[in-house]
Amino acid sequence: MRDYIIETERLGLRNWTQKDIAPFAEMCADTAVMQYFPSTLSHDETANLVKRLQDHYNQKNYTYYAITIKETDTFIGFCGMLMQTYDSPFTPNVDIGWRLKKVAWGKGYATEAAKACIKFAQKELGLKTIISVASQTNVPSINVMQKIGMTKVGSFEHPALNDTPALNPCVVYKICF
Ligand SMILES: CC(C)(COP(=O)(O)OP(=O)(O)OC[C@H]1O[C@@H](n2cnc3c(N)ncnc32)[C@H](O)[C@@H]1OP(=O)(O)O)[C@@H](O)C(=O)NCCC(=O)NCCS
Repeated sequence: MRDYIIETERLGLRNWTQKDIAPFAEMCADTAVMQYFPSTLSHDETANLVKRLQDHYNQKNYTYYAITIKETDTFIGFCGMLMQTYDSPFTPNVDIGWRLKKVAWGKGYATEAAKACIKFAQKELGLKTIISVASQTNVPSINVMQKIGMTKVGSFEHPALNDTPALNPCVVYKICF
């Protein structure tokens, strides 16, 4: 699988295939990976998410892309852009997001992928603004936002986290081109 949409020194970002569902489902069933989300995902929920991300790509020409390590062709998670329409003072807006399997943390992969996505969003997609949202306690994710040049613009109570108040409020970071 070499049809990358975005390429970095170590990573290839591409649209999703059915083969990604099994490793992605394993990752989304990991309580460490999902600690800042209301729950882990079942296999079917992950398959539905992959379908949603593929549909988003077909409609908008971008998505949260599947990431592979180029050298080994190993799937490690996702990074990319998604149109968010949930109810908040900061939406509708395109966000940038990331989720990696635990063995891929601490190697600079998220920041490497996110920097390339930001560049692609500006130069190839012509986007003017991107936001990023995380629970205020999700320090690793907020660190990525800061390292790719985003600036904090506010915080809000995320409607998807109403039943998990410990994860609210969420912080919002933004970059404008
Ligand atoms: C958020 C998440 C993607 C961050 O991953 P990460 O691996 O910590 O992020 P980075 O890619 O920035 O790498 C971090 C560390 O790798 C280290 N590193 C090792 N080799 C490196 C290299 N070659 N280049 C750069 N950094 C390297 C750095 O020390 C860096 O830490 P520092 O910023 O303190 O110096 C990860 O924690 C995750 O998937 N979490 C679960 C899902 C989630 O919460 N997603 C976000 C929801 S809002």
